Parts: sequence; C-alpha cells; structure tokens
Amino acid sequence: MEPIKISDNIFWVGAVDYDIRDFHGYLTPRGSTYNAYLIVKDNKITLIDTVKHGFEDELLSRVSKIVDPKRIDQVVSNHAEMDHSGGLPGILRHIGIEKPVLASTMGVKNLAGQFPSAGLNLQAVGPKLDVGGEDLVFMETRMIHWPDSMFSFLPSQGLLFSQDGFGMHLACPERFDDEIPEDVWGPLALNYFANILTPYTVQIGKLLEKVAADGLAAQIRTICPDHGFVWRRNPGRIIEIYAKWVQQKPRRKAVVVFDTMWHSTEYMARELTDFLAGQDIEASYHCLKNRHRSEVATECFEAAAIIIGTPTINNQLFPSVADFIAYVKSLKFKNKIGGAFGSHGWSGEGAKLVQAELRNMGYSVPADEVRVQWVPQEKDLGPLKALGQSIADEIKRL
Ligand code: FEO
Repeated sequence: MEPIKISDNIFWVGAVDYDIRDFHGYLTPRGSTYNAYLIVKDNKITLIDTVKHGFEDELLSRVSKIVDPKRIDQVVSNHAEMDHSGGLPGILRHIGIEKPVLASTMGVKNLAGQFPSAGLNLQAVGPKLDVGGEDLVFMETRMIHWPDSMFSFLPSQGLLFSQDGFGMHLACPERFDDEIPEDVWGPLALNYFANILTPYTVQIGKLLEKVAADGLAAQIRTICPDHGFVWRRNPGRIIEIYAKWVQQKPRRKAVVVFDTMWHSTEYMARELTDFLAGQDIEASYHCLKNRHRSEVATECFEAAAIIIGTPTINNQLFPSVADFIAYVKSLKFKNKIGGAFGSHGWSGEGAKLVQAELRNMGYSVPADEVRVQWVPQEKDLGPLKALGQSIADEIKRL
C-alpha cells in the first residue's frame, strides 16, 4: 500500500473501500474512501484524521513507506464519525497511546463517548497548532455535518483539510480531480450532497459566505476532503457548485415515487408520470421495489415536486413507503411541492397518511390526496389528472 504525494511534505495515507455498498443506509454503488493525510516535517509528524475500523493496517502500511508510524507525534481529528475515527484506537495503540489526539471541544466529547475505554489522550484544539515550524489553523464547522466537525487549514500551502465537506463516495485508484472527469464525479458529488449535507444547507451557505468574507476562499489552492479525491486543479469548481446547491433551488421536475401490492398503485404512478410529462414537466418515475431510498432522494434534490404513492396495508403505509418518507423527512428538503395517491382494498388510510406527512414536512400541497379503491378504472383517472394538473401548475408558477 503506497502513499500518494500531495506536496513536498503532505501525503494521502487513507484507505480505499471498493466493496462498501451500504453506508449507514445510503447506497454507495462506487464504494468509498476514508482519507487521512500525513504532514511530515523534520521535527514533527502530524496525522490528519484516520480511517474506518478494519482499515487501520492499510493506513499504517502507507505511512510506513514514508516514516515509521511510531514517529507520528500528534493526530488531528477533524470529524468524530466512525468512518474517520473507528480506526483511531487501533492506530494510537500502534503509534503510542499517549500521543495527543486533537479535536474540537465537541470532538473531544464525542470521541470520549465513542471510545470510553480506549485511553486516548484527547485534547481540545486552540485556534492553531504547530505542525513543525508552521501553524495549522482550525475553523469550527459545527453541524457540517456533526457538532464536532471542523476544518484545518495550512496557510503556507493554501491547503484545506475539509473532512466530509467537498467529498463524495468514490473508490478508485485516482486521487486527484484532474484525473477524473466531471461527468463521472458530478453525479456522485450530487448524490453525496443530497444524502449527507442537505439538512445543513443553511450552515453551509453561511460558512461559504464567511470563507469568502474572510478572504480564505481566495487562499485555497488545494482541498483535501475525507472522502473521494483531492481538489488540486480546480478547488473553486466544487465551492461554486456547493454555492448553487445550498440554495436548494428547484427545477421543473417532479419525482413520482411509490410502491405497489397488486399493481394498482403502480398503474396510478404510470398514469401520473405520463400526465406530468405531457405538461412539459420532467417526470421521474421510481418504484421502491427496485430503487434505493438514497437514489430516489438524489432525484428529489433538484426536483420541484415529490409525489408519493402507497397502498394501504393493515390501515398503514406500505413499509417501503414509510421507510422512504422517514428518510426524506430527515433530509429536510426545502422548496418542495408534495402530492399523495394510492390504491386500497377495504380501507384507504395510506394516501391520507402520506398527505399528512407531506404537510408535516412543510411541503406545499396544492391538492387533496387521490385514493382509488381496488383496481383503477378509466373513471378514476380524472382525479389523478387533476392532482397532476395542480402540481404542474404550481411547478410552472415557480
Ligand atoms: Fe464521513 Fe460524517 O463521516
């Protein structure tokens, strides 16, 4: 396992997880990386972040190609989530459990909570840290996306260690933005932003404004995130894209997402999708039997409307639909229009429950839910088209 040189004294020493597909409930079809970085100076060696548990040997192997890992003097933890800290106890046991682990105040608290018996020497960072004749400067980025999150910046190289920010889940041998075309990384960056960062767009927007106002944005020449690749050619590109995404500005698109028991709700979804397309709306059709919640959430991110269909099972939502709603609720999408529909047999609570959830989520809901008993007939299509029309009209008013 080889390290990758970023500059004369900065190296990528992380791990590549080609096989992960379920990242805490989020589908990662291209795997992921857990990036860690080594700052190597004659008199001090600093490790920035670590890796998920199980990848400790990969990190240590890469470090050992540069220096004996036991020479690491200090570890900075920019983010306490397990994909970056799970390997911390094992790595510290190897390099010396007494070595300081520096984190934000909340990071110290979170790491202590996660590893109460590890004996880590946790210390809260000040505004900066000597990394061997120069300072690493810290910036707390609370709730982007955890309370402990922080950025570290090395002014002499204009190099930002951005933990989860500006990352993506992509396992590949390439380590730099100039090695991967935007048509490959663009959808993955969107997928990551939609599923990980959407709930925190207000905080990210404020951070981008602060970074610009402080003049830091102009100083950034390289961004080293904890997932994906290093932005060395054009870090401004991903900052520019984030500045657009934080606005959550919807486009003329509707997502029709549903599940079905005996094809009746499916039939309604197809009719609705066709109707919306006929209204010059980009209509995106997803059955939860074969689409993962996080894939559909990515489709929803830039859509103006989310229209959810469900059968009724034992007076409740269909389980996959309940799962999807719980997931999108956690993402706190803004500026959405909602709609509900579904077929039922002897009772029809499902679509009503969807409608209530859409209102709870703060979506604009321009029409009543459409419920059809048993198999939809031609006569049932009128209310469905009326629902589609209401939503199409509202999308066009945006
Ligand atoms: Fe990559 Fe929030 O952990």
